[in-house]
Amino acid sequence: MNTMKVWLVTGAGRGLGTHIVRAALDAGHRVVATGRRPARIEQVFGEHDDLLVARLDITRPAEAETAVAAAVERFGRVDVLVNNAADSYPGYFEEIPPERMRAQIESTLMGPMNVTRAVLPYMRRERGGHIITISSIDGLAGLEFCAAYATAKFGVEGWMESLRFDIEPFGIRTTIVNPGLFRTELLSEPSTTWPESSIEDYAGRTATMLPAWRLKNGRQAGDPAKLAASLIRIAEAAEPPLRWIVGDDALATAEAKARQLLAQVEASRASGSGLNHAPPSDESRVRPSTPTGPGAGSRHDEPTATGIGATATADPSPYPPTGHPPPQPSDPGVKPPEQGIQQ
Ligand SMILES: NC(=O)c1ccc[n+]([C@@H]2O[C@H](COP(=O)([O-])OP(=O)(O)OC[C@H]3O[C@@H](n4cnc5c(N)ncnc54)[C@H](OP(=O)(O)O)[C@@H]3O)[C@@H](O)[C@H]2O)c1
Repeated sequence: MNTMKVWLVTGAGRGLGTHIVRAALDAGHRVVATGRRPARIEQVFGEHDDLLVARLDITRPAEAETAVAAAVERFGRVDVLVNNAADSYPGYFEEIPPERMRAQIESTLMGPMNVTRAVLPYMRRERGGHIITISSIDGLAGLEFCAAYATAKFGVEGWMESLRFDIEPFGIRTTIVNPGLFRTELLSEPSTTWPESSIEDYAGRTATMLPAWRLKNGRQAGDPAKLAASLIRIAEAAEPPLRWIVGDDALATAEAKARQLLAQVEASRASGSGLNHAPPSDESRVRPSTPTGPGAGSRHDEPTATGIGATATADPSPYPPTGHPPPQPSDPGVKPPEQGIQQ
């Protein structure tokens, strides 16, 4: 069986992206390595039959479309998209100017959306594919001095968790990756734009935080080459995970967050439950006041399959907890591939 896939990786010129490209090529896959500086990527990898280098600043939707079209022209399809590129604007919220907060969201949340939007029509045409987005452990748990980065990564989480339901019926899988600290260039300029202290109340803490973060640079425990090699194996699995938490630090933080969330559920149960409208009286059940229309007959406090209006005890997922829905060949919303790309 031919297991060769076509990968498209963003931010391939340095850091984790470079390792992912190399690991994918080593595993026999074809790779479209993209970045803002294609010359740099060519310099890193040289000539390779299975490699296409394409310019892609992920904040530019037109460049995403061009890069994906070039990938399809060269290799016929894109099987695996790795939304890897991102940057970081640390600092205390009040000291992060709105334009930096916007820049963080543009690169780290809107960027992966731009590339995914460009890839999905082709994946739908193929009735298959895999969207992998590198989030962060900061996408699961907030962190002091990281309000902007965590905002964007939490956004990635909500988007990816919801996107899953949109595209699984087309056979397209999703995986969120939550790394802890890995030794890349993320904590160095230009990946990180360090803040300027402007508010006296924060000055002491900023003065402590800045050197502490700078000190971590180059000393991160995680090896990005090992992460990349494992990522390839994860993606090759018949049932890739919805979430993959990587690094001992990330695993510990995720576990603590999960326990904290459960404790918060318990602490909220008494005061947070019993807040529904009173059930309709017998008389109004016999004569409904809103007889027809979308949503008629449903109550907003009833559990639903998609989680909207779901109660705390309802499983919001219509699929088994470990993964993906069974194949749906007769799904009326799924059109056959020969109908071409659906925009
Ligand atoms: N390293 C960690 O400890 C860690 C932890 C958790 C999550 N992550 C996540 O892992 C992913 C990879 O980061 P990394 O650690 O490899 O960081 P990195 O070494 O700083 O590399 C970042 C890459 O993203 C690219 N990039 C930034 N903005 C871009 C844009 N607008 N368009 C296209 N490319 C852009 C950079 O390209 P240029 O060369 O053009 O700047 C670079 O190739 C990110 O999503 C990051 O948030 C990393």
